[in-house]
Amino acid sequence: MRADVSSQPATHRLGSMKACAEPEQFYTAPAIVTTSRKFRFFDTIASLDDTHAMRPAIANINIENLRHNYRLLSSRAGHAKIMAVVKANAYGHGLALVSSALFDEGCRQFSVTDASEGMALRKLLPEAESIVLFSGIFDADDAGLARQHALTPAITGNHQLRLLQSAGFSGSVWIKINTGMQRLGADDPARLMHQCRASSIEIAGIMSHLACADTPEHPLNRAQAEEFSTLCQQLDPELPASLLNSAGLVALPDQMHDFVRPGLALYGAEPVPTEPLGVRPVMQLTGQVMHVREIAEGVSLSYGASFTAPDNMKIAVVSLGYGDGLPRILSSCGQAYARGTWFPIVGRICMDYCLIDCTTNHLKPGDTVEFWGEKLTVSTVSDLAGTIPYELLTGVGTRVCRRAI
Ligand SMILES: Cc1ncc(COP(=O)(O)O)c(C=O)c1O
Repeated sequence: MRADVSSQPATHRLGSMKACAEPEQFYTAPAIVTTSRKFRFFDTIASLDDTHAMRPAIANINIENLRHNYRLLSSRAGHAKIMAVVKANAYGHGLALVSSALFDEGCRQFSVTDASEGMALRKLLPEAESIVLFSGIFDADDAGLARQHALTPAITGNHQLRLLQSAGFSGSVWIKINTGMQRLGADDPARLMHQCRASSIEIAGIMSHLACADTPEHPLNRAQAEEFSTLCQQLDPELPASLLNSAGLVALPDQMHDFVRPGLALYGAEPVPTEPLGVRPVMQLTGQVMHVREIAEGVSLSYGASFTAPDNMKIAVVSLGYGDGLPRILSSCGQAYARGTWFPIVGRICMDYCLIDCTTNHLKPGDTVEFWGEKLTVSTVSDLAGTIPYELLTGVGTRVCRRAI
């Protein structure tokens, strides 16, 4: 059956649609390209000219919206400092674009996953006050990178401390404690802190991570907050402390402590949609119409011939597919936005292309088509795809051009 086309916002229309139900495929995205001279210094892969040679699968990165989000979260954080979470290529937005814009906006504390991400960020921002490694260090090479690039690992055990000592590391570390997430956290934080101090490694602070902050009423939030405060008091009340991620800013506004660690909200997805912070979308994922084809009634489309035209149709072939991060599960159930209206995705999404139904609203080759952004939020699309915005954003492929707008 052909999905209908409407000029209504997709958020209205998608509300009644069920999440799609096919397996999907995702990719990570380290490539960074920009057409903005302002960010040229930070480009890591392609030059301005290369951008023009790339196929039109483009993630437009709205730097002004990113700055707005940073300012909004800073004011929400009050006296607490923002430690901007820019791991996984800044949640797929491009580490260089994002970190330089945040630095310009006054951000000096950043966090990434591991030493190689930390090294990349240190090269981009030699003056960042602190680059925290959430996963700490894994081996001697990481410890060497932490020393060489003045990185600040979040550690959980003596084995990491020994690696740092062997590498001649004399910087500072965060101590990660478990308050209910049951993921990372020191078994004996008091002992670990004692060992750090005995080896002249400074302790930058104590941090923990919330498991259920996107459900503000969940009792685990308050339980974790209380456990965190108790442990910080026992361990060293003078040390800086950090508990909140993006959703934590909504769920536990009385628990800012010294540093807050927003990721998702910086990129403009509401961490708790029922209590919006007012963040603005940063990424607009687009493809371009390559070809418009007339399809006769009864003809099937794309791989698997899973969609058959119920009438004569017009189909636009668009240059974005699952190899770029468009979830394949949106085959015949997703939406796209172009020329002020909505277009259903029809047939199976391919690696490099998808097909959209433009029978009743005209499209022509060269038209830009949005798959998420201002018109269709990444959270709406992720709901439809049965996943979370984090997965869609970090899944935007390496060959998608990140372009600052
Ligand atoms: C330890 C830690 N803090 C903060 C964050 C940021 O979380 P969010 O993107 O939900 O703000 C993450 C993300 O996974 C994390 O692992």
